[in-house]
Amino acid sequence: MKIKNICCIGAGYVGGPTMAVIAQKCPKINVTVVDINQKRIDAWNDEDVENIPIYEPGLSDVVKEARGRNLFFSTDVDSAIENADMIFISVNTPTKTYGIGKGMAADLKFIELCARQIARVSKNDKIVIEKSTLPVRTAAALKNILDNTGNGVKFQILSNPEFLAEGTAVQDLMNPDRVLIGGDIDTNKGKEAVEALVDIYATWIPKENILTTNVWSSELSKLTANAFLAQRVSSINAMSELCEKTGADVDEVARAVGKDSRIGSKFLKSSVGFGGSCFQKDILNLVYISKTFGLNEVADYWEQVIIMNDHQKRRFAEKIVKTLFNTVSGKKIAILGWAFKKDTNDTRESAAIYVTDYLLNEQAEIVVYDPKVNPEQIYADLDYLSYRSDEENRKAVTIVSSAEEACKDAHAVAVLTEWEEFNVLDWEKIYEDMLKPAFLFDGRRILDRRSKENIGFEFYAIGS
Ligand code: UDX
Ligand code: UDX
Repeated sequence: MKIKNICCIGAGYVGGPTMAVIAQKCPKINVTVVDINQKRIDAWNDEDVENIPIYEPGLSDVVKEARGRNLFFSTDVDSAIENADMIFISVNTPTKTYGIGKGMAADLKFIELCARQIARVSKNDKIVIEKSTLPVRTAAALKNILDNTGNGVKFQILSNPEFLAEGTAVQDLMNPDRVLIGGDIDTNKGKEAVEALVDIYATWIPKENILTTNVWSSELSKLTANAFLAQRVSSINAMSELCEKTGADVDEVARAVGKDSRIGSKFLKSSVGFGGSCFQKDILNLVYISKTFGLNEVADYWEQVIIMNDHQKRRFAEKIVKTLFNTVSGKKIAILGWAFKKDTNDTRESAAIYVTDYLLNEQAEIVVYDPKVNPEQIYADLDYLSYRSDEENRKAVTIVSSAEEACKDAHAVAVLTEWEEFNVLDWEKIYEDMLKPAFLFDGRRILDRRSKENIGFEFYAIGS
């Protein structure tokens, strides 16, 4: 089975970069990325390729090469579906905010809408691929909708979870540790569909790194991978608090532990708490699924990863208040970094949102600087919490365009994203321009303690 036309529904952080790389690597396949959000599609089509809606190192070059050749962005979802042999579903699956499973289960509303649209529009057989992270056994629901509401055409459903991390998306797509494809491998049609997708990835990825499994294993592996990664961060963050009490240093502990090849060194960097669109959502979903099967101990085990993460964010904010003589009311606090990690403009679930919210409740005046995040996004994140009116947020939070400006006349500075540029700031000048005593809180452990203390800062880093 030779694939000539691919459609991807959802031009977000996952769909956009993934399709751009497939189009670049497979110039003979037409790839059309569709989205209901006109503004987002317009941005993907912006003449100046630097204005595409997602910031990822290397992405604009990939888009530049393929766009208009065999990579297209459009809001005409029906036509793209109709023309495609293979359809990736890459729409968002947020945590439910209503009804059964509220606050825990993944909301599959958009997935179902996509399935119904595909069924309605399709006039020939197609392969439908779950790219979004979904609860295990979603493929069964998809199949049910496709088979029962369609025009009698046949659909093969594959699961092909995305493991890319933001900030390194292009690199992760070009050179992934593995690609995982789940399908109905017990039937010939299912095997053919799996092979068709394997062939696409095999254009640039060694075959031994392309794993094929049954659909349920593939769906569950994605949730498991994210849960394990998040668990490591929560584990080291749990140790960070113990380090602060005992005089141990969490980076030294992480290095010593990570040298054990059975443990490994990655994902052991203590921080103010993990963020991002996936970890919390996927673990909550895992907890929910476990509970539905009556596996309460399994659910409790994974839920603890989230509890620890919430504790870490709150603990960091509390530390700021306690250190500033138990009050930050009317004090100016500079927040350096709003993105949930460096090299991305994504702010979903960023620790900065929650730390800022805590400090606003303590009546602090907040000044934020982030090199890539738009000011509207910062306000939108705070407004979304609904704890204060939009006007109150705009009054209490100022957004500026340099770190120096943020820190000027501040009582304290908190580093919340590990942007490289924070390491090479003129910290002596920043110190001079701050109120004294000048407090510096490093939530990412990127700053050198000794040099900052020598300048005169009262310095706190998480985990030592
Ligand atoms: C999302 C989920 O967060 C993740 O769990 C999943 O693995 C992949 O999809 P991401 O690409 O980061 O990841 O989401 P987002 O940037 O929100 O993009 C989703 C896009 O789908 C949005 O642009 C939205 O407009 C679009 N969409 C949503 C549709 O085109 N149609 C819909 O019905 C719903
Ligand atoms: C994650 C998974 O890594 C990826 O495979 C999956 O497809 C989507 O979810 P992402 O959320 O983009 O990717 O970023 P990731 O690098 O995993 O970081 C998540 C959060 O954990 C960030 O806030 C990061 O700062 C934090 N983190 C990560 C730590 O605090 N310490 C670490 O050692 C690693």
